[in-house]
Amino acid sequence: MTLLGIESSCDETGAAVLKKDEKTGRFLLLSNIIASSLSLHAKTGGIIPEVAAREQLKYILPVIDRAIEEGFGFTGADKDAVPPIDAIAVTVGPGLIGSLLVGVETARTLSYLWDKPLIPVNHLYGHIYANWIDTDTKQMENGKWKMVNIQFPALALVVSGGHTDIVLMRSHSDITVAGGTRDDAAGEAFDKIGRLLSLPYPAGPFIAKLAESGDPKRFRFPRPLIGSDDFDFSFSGLKTAVMRTVQSIENPDEKTKADIAASTEHAIVDILVRKTLKAAAHYDVRSILLGGGVAANEKLKRTFEQKIKEQLSEVSLFIPPKHLCTDNAAMIAAAGGLQNSSVSWKDIHADPDLYFRSPV
Ligand code: KG4
Ligand code: ZN
Repeated sequence: MTLLGIESSCDETGAAVLKKDEKTGRFLLLSNIIASSLSLHAKTGGIIPEVAAREQLKYILPVIDRAIEEGFGFTGADKDAVPPIDAIAVTVGPGLIGSLLVGVETARTLSYLWDKPLIPVNHLYGHIYANWIDTDTKQMENGKWKMVNIQFPALALVVSGGHTDIVLMRSHSDITVAGGTRDDAAGEAFDKIGRLLSLPYPAGPFIAKLAESGDPKRFRFPRPLIGSDDFDFSFSGLKTAVMRTVQSIENPDEKTKADIAASTEHAIVDILVRKTLKAAAHYDVRSILLGGGVAANEKLKRTFEQKIKEQLSEVSLFIPPKHLCTDNAAMIAAAGGLQNSSVSWKDIHADPDLYFRSPV
């Protein structure tokens, strides 16, 4: 099965071509193109939905064109030929309605034009399914796939700009939410605290960079809900504590800023790892899967590796490569290929408020 994935939920416009190995259920990446309007939003310190939607419209067709060209080697006049895909998978939500509509309407048109099945994909599932993609094309040339199969039951931590959710997967069709954030998402906490430190948007990678030269123990920021009986998160108290610290120091020097960044990162990583491991032990899972932009964080990755080794050594950890943690279309194609429930081009709709409520 070969799929074209389309992603346009926020400020990234993505298209990707993936090939599924029916034996292993894993995917080989044939192309993965992303255009981003992030630099425009960095100037405004956040995303302006109308600007993001307009940029989506500008990029969507060239991005799809390039993904097909790289995936199949079409050139020149051949570009008008129907690509040898079996289905089109597209993000239907959650996200910004104007941005989502660009991807959904484009996918609808292509499905009709090329007579290909259309698979609606929940962006949050996409972040989880990034773990089913193999990026090493050489392995395929040798006729082999990386045999790192994910075993169920699995626990997925989705940590992005808008979400922090712990999800239990007993199979591809049995997925339930075990916990989530009661206020801000982890990525949002990074972004808001970054703003306090005058860092560019989105601040996650900048806080991580600054933290490298900081002391993570200088400030002991709160870890709300860390000892609670459930698997929920809360990050707004942490944000307020950092704000008070920043306000209490007049003209903080670079060292102090680095110490605040390191202490913030330390607190967020601590909360995410502890809660996820607690849920993993409770549900007795065999795999832990990370997904979403915050999963690109090195300290999070190292801490998970270390704590799993110490506390749950029989559990396997999966984290996608960085470029598949942040928004991309490859993960949408993978989710579409594994959940595989196509609809008619007449019956697909964007849903900005979609959550983990159905396996779409
Ligand atoms: O998944 P994503 O690309 O978009 C959403 O679906 O929201 O996640 C974006 C979030 C932002 O909040 C950004 O600050 C955060 O991921 N992020 C990071 C890192 N890279 C991206 N947070 C911490 N460390 C990073 N290296
Ligand atoms: Zn995302």
